[in-house]
Amino acid sequence: MPSEKTGLQSSPASALTGTVSVPGDNSISHRALILGALGVGETRISGLLESEDVLATAAAMNALGATASRNADGDWQVFGRGVGGLSEPSGVLDMGNSGTAVRLLMGVTATHPLKATFTGDASLSKRPMERVMTPLRQMGAQFTARDGGCLPVTVSGATAPIPISYELPVASAQVKTAVLLAGLNRPGQTTVIEPQPTRDHSERMLGFFGAKVTVEEMPGGGRRITLDGQPELSGHDVTVPGDFSSAAFPMVAALLTPGSKITLTGVGMNPLRTGLLDTLLEMGAAIAVENPRNVSGEPVADLVVEHSALTGITVPASRAPSMIDEYPVLAVAAAFAEGETRMQGLGELRVKESDRLAAIATGLTASGIALTETEDSLTIQGGRPPGGAMVEAQLDHRIAMAFLVLGTATAGPVSIDDAATMESSFPDFAALMNGLGANIKGIET
Ligand code: S3P
Repeated sequence: MPSEKTGLQSSPASALTGTVSVPGDNSISHRALILGALGVGETRISGLLESEDVLATAAAMNALGATASRNADGDWQVFGRGVGGLSEPSGVLDMGNSGTAVRLLMGVTATHPLKATFTGDASLSKRPMERVMTPLRQMGAQFTARDGGCLPVTVSGATAPIPISYELPVASAQVKTAVLLAGLNRPGQTTVIEPQPTRDHSERMLGFFGAKVTVEEMPGGGRRITLDGQPELSGHDVTVPGDFSSAAFPMVAALLTPGSKITLTGVGMNPLRTGLLDTLLEMGAAIAVENPRNVSGEPVADLVVEHSALTGITVPASRAPSMIDEYPVLAVAAAFAEGETRMQGLGELRVKESDRLAAIATGLTASGIALTETEDSLTIQGGRPPGGAMVEAQLDHRIAMAFLVLGTATAGPVSIDDAATMESSFPDFAALMNGLGANIKGIET
């Protein structure tokens, strides 16, 4: 009997070659839709990532009273309601698989005088929401959640929001952004202190839309971010750069496959996102950064990647926030490196779309790779992995893509059981990879 899921099998590829642009940045796409909805007038977005996660945010902005729609030319148009101007949705907001969508929108709705109920898929419903509810409660919002602070969550927004200064207990751009977005609709200043810097797309885009955001570097490497409340945000044209996190997959596939040389154009190079590049360069990767430029307040470049012999290294815990989504694919690169690769400070991987640390360890072990997993670290013995595994994607797009990259270079094929999960962030992953010379095809699981 055919199963409901369609899997994919990645068989060893010969050289990967060609020039491609990867889909738009996931983090920036969510933020462009949300700030467009909070701006006055029209925001036009080109290069929006049209993934299930981002489309969930677009649908939510429409349900909250803004208008977000796709034009015939592929650009998106958002007509905003102004800061504080969103209205109560008539139905439940289903955020699918996206932690970014739900946490950012909990922040937005927390300081609007409305009630909103958020749900998500089986993966999102297991993920911790207390980390955003704690500061948002301090701002006056009320929440009803399932035990353990899980979705579904109903937000009752504050009618007289209270100013806060909040120090992040975990390095999380989603929590930082939730607090800043809540801070938009209250008088006075909202301050977030982050002991370890995390991606700063929100700070950049808030400034781009006309808010006053001050970022101070603190002794020890942290940052203090202060937002002046109740700014007039005005609609803007935004061009979304390619997603570095998506580029990471063809990048590593090309590094691992002999004879490869690929060019990835228009990739976002925000320095708080490119920890994987630093890591791969330290491992001996041949990656050239060309044509650096600025797009809508974000650095962008083209990356030329050639097959390289890699050597294992120790990746420090302090680098984790700048490459938090890239550990699955780094683990795959490490499986081919000479010697041992140690990755530390990985506790946050346990609360991603899956328990990513466990998912990486299970899939690599099944593919014949020796490793040691602790609560927050992973040590991988590199070599010539045999492959030949069937890996459960566990509703985690990055686990699915990482293991398909593994299969491009192992001796035997590597399969994943659920191709649909990649719709979260990279709907055309298999087609883009096959266009470069990979050998990924559908299987029944
Ligand atoms: C994101 C922040 C990160 C990242 C996620 C996107 C964002 O999550 O893993 O894919 O857009 O702010 P955390 O804030 O939980 O680290």
